[in-house]
Amino acid sequence: MLIKNVRVRNRKGILDIYIKNGKIEKISENINNIDHVQVIDGKEAFVMPPYVDSHNHFDYAATYGQPVHNKSGTLFEGLDIWEMRKKRLTESDIKKRAEKVLEWQIAQGVQYIRTHVNVSERDLMSLSAMLEFREEMKKFVDIQIVAFPQYGLLNFENGLELLEEAIKMGAEVVGAIPHLEDTREDAVASLERMFEIAEKYQVLVDVHCDEIDDDQSRSLEVLASLARKYEMGPLVTASHTTAMHSYNNAYTAKLFRLLERTNINFVVNPVINLHLQGRYDSYPVRRGVTRVKELLEAGLNVSLGNDDITDPFYPFGTGNMLDVLYMLLHVSHLLGYEHIRNSFDLITTNGAQTLNIKEHYGIEEGKPANLIILPAENEYDIIRRRIKPIYSIRNGEIIAKSTPETFNVYLDKGAKRVNFKID
Ligand code: FE2
Repeated sequence: MLIKNVRVRNRKGILDIYIKNGKIEKISENINNIDHVQVIDGKEAFVMPPYVDSHNHFDYAATYGQPVHNKSGTLFEGLDIWEMRKKRLTESDIKKRAEKVLEWQIAQGVQYIRTHVNVSERDLMSLSAMLEFREEMKKFVDIQIVAFPQYGLLNFENGLELLEEAIKMGAEVVGAIPHLEDTREDAVASLERMFEIAEKYQVLVDVHCDEIDDDQSRSLEVLASLARKYEMGPLVTASHTTAMHSYNNAYTAKLFRLLERTNINFVVNPVINLHLQGRYDSYPVRRGVTRVKELLEAGLNVSLGNDDITDPFYPFGTGNMLDVLYMLLHVSHLLGYEHIRNSFDLITTNGAQTLNIKEHYGIEEGKPANLIILPAENEYDIIRRRIKPIYSIRNGEIIAKSTPETFNVYLDKGAKRVNFKID
């Protein structure tokens, strides 16, 4: 395949990309005289690596309103509704819903996903289904599975044994949810046990960490300090960390000294936490998103996730990473022009760092030809107009294609503008 006349993110000029045997063979100006290949004329479109969704829950997705809607908008009502919905779970139900949502995501340029699969289940059925799904879909998308103990490790009967079994079955990442354990002591113990499993099986770590508005919820310091002890910093991820929004500044300054020495990753789910957090506040209502600007300024790796996609915890979502980024830029006061341009790292390269797949990720000669082509000038243009890819290419083959939206608008008498695009 030869892709002609495109702008490549973080490179200058109008370039061509030659793809051979599923890999990027050459990127340069004016690549010609290559016979018998499919040619795409990019018409100066923008090319970048596919989006990375660093945090979702495929096993819950597309269950909104089943069997009832979440009236209060709280996490705890969501958990109660999931208790009812999970009685109807079958492997085929899970896979069918996951496939539907994955198709939405692929259409919108996502090719790398870390999904948290509930392992607070006696039969680990959700995990079995998602392991099969990961294999069936690997030609199209990289899915990384976190063994996620939704109801706690020590709170749930045999929680630790189920977690270890999940890793033996094939989950690549071990999880925990310390703020949902009954006590601070249990929270600490759950992280200690989880790290023992991570070390034993040499797997990555991703913790639902302090996803609560309690300024006393301080599992992050324990997670970071254990990451140091086990020398696993860049292999460890703290998801959510919303309590950091409410920490006092003196404590946060001390905490950042530890975080900077540790180099763990942060995953932020701004859409979901804006919705779920602040539910017990009277005015002013807290935003419920961690300190993203400060984490980035401290040089820490931050990437973004959809988290819930139309399920008991959140009504909306199509898995689109631009929705997530758009929300983050507003809520975290990151709307300076350079912030906007650079913010695409949070849904691309930073996500690849979180998933520990950087070696194979990016638009570079010798790497797999995984890329998206968008009819846009630059990152600012993409997010302002929420432009979707016209092509998603995986190992040199088109896996999704779309036509940009056009409109007819009728003003005064008859059609004034026909078939125009918003620009
Ligand atoms: Fe989550």
